[in-house]
Amino acid sequence: MSRTEETLSPKIETVAVVGAGTMGHGIAHVAAIAGFQVFLFDVDANAVERGLASVKRNLAKGIERGKVTEDERDRALERIRATTDFSALGAADLFIEAVPEMMDLKRETLRQIGKITEGKPFIFASNTSSLSISEIAKSAARPERVIGMHFFNPVHVMRLVEIVVGEKTSDETLNVVRAAAARMKKEAITVRDVPGFASSRLGVALGLEAMRMLEQEVASAKDIDTAMELGYNHPVGPLRLTDLVGLDVRLKIAEYLHSALGSEGFRPPEILRRMVKEGKLGKKTGEGFYRWEEGK
Ligand SMILES: NC(=O)c1ccc[n+]([C@@H]2O[C@H](COP(=O)([O-])OP(=O)(O)OC[C@H]3O[C@@H](n4cnc5c(N)ncnc54)[C@H](O)[C@@H]3O)[C@@H](O)[C@H]2O)c1
Repeated sequence: MSRTEETLSPKIETVAVVGAGTMGHGIAHVAAIAGFQVFLFDVDANAVERGLASVKRNLAKGIERGKVTEDERDRALERIRATTDFSALGAADLFIEAVPEMMDLKRETLRQIGKITEGKPFIFASNTSSLSISEIAKSAARPERVIGMHFFNPVHVMRLVEIVVGEKTSDETLNVVRAAAARMKKEAITVRDVPGFASSRLGVALGLEAMRMLEQEVASAKDIDTAMELGYNHPVGPLRLTDLVGLDVRLKIAEYLHSALGSEGFRPPEILRRMVKEGKLGKKTGEGFYRWEEGK
């Protein structure tokens, strides 16, 4: 890792979340509760509106469950500025991008941020679940300030954040981002920028092996899941989890990891390919390894 010659602002004050979808609104939520000033930006005005409405809904649920006070909710909402005006984000110290999983789009987002910040130092954290941080950083004037901050869905509930250190990410960037994650009450793990990082590589390996076991009629889907739930204390078994994530999403990640890591363990099992072809994508289509009625 290289050292920066210029000191970053020791503390992050303002966080700009770029992309207000599933992940973006959750990141804005935890950042605002942590006391950061927050911009929640999206190119789509409806997405901004939906994102802010989701933050309000989740904060209301937090109050019902006794996790958030009304005062904390009010102050968090005051800190969030939802906007479609990209130039307004220029004041941020930390940009967390949660735009769709496309390398070109991530790089272009980073380039555009460079233009609006006009030379002011900033950190760019990508919430990518699979793309290379070092590749994204190639479009940065300051690649030492590019890092991965991989949150988990739903962000306001899941405690983990996987911090991904690119080839050029500086120690200082890592330290600043670790401190920001701690302030958001997340448990951070630090991972080198390799395909699948730590979480996806292990999680997908388990899911694919469970599918092969189902193909070989070792046990039913429910019993394979129960083995992990009761035997290993996993909150959700690997097949049920695949239904929740989406079989199509899992297939894409498996194909990518198979080619990037060259490991046979990541070759997508036939059952996964077949089910995706048949449109059995899991919870979102009502059928995967389980039948889902009314979301259950
Ligand atoms: N969904 C998950 O469970 C999950 C978990 C971890 C990481 N991720 C990663 O997070 C990122 C976002 O995923 P998501 O599920 O929130 O996607 P999403 O589709 O729900 O949201 C993406 C948002 O980005 C907006 N957008 C598109 N182009 C934009 C641009 N140029 N500038 C600003 N906003 C733009 C879209 O309008 C949309 O609202 C992806 O990289 C994904 O791999 C997703």
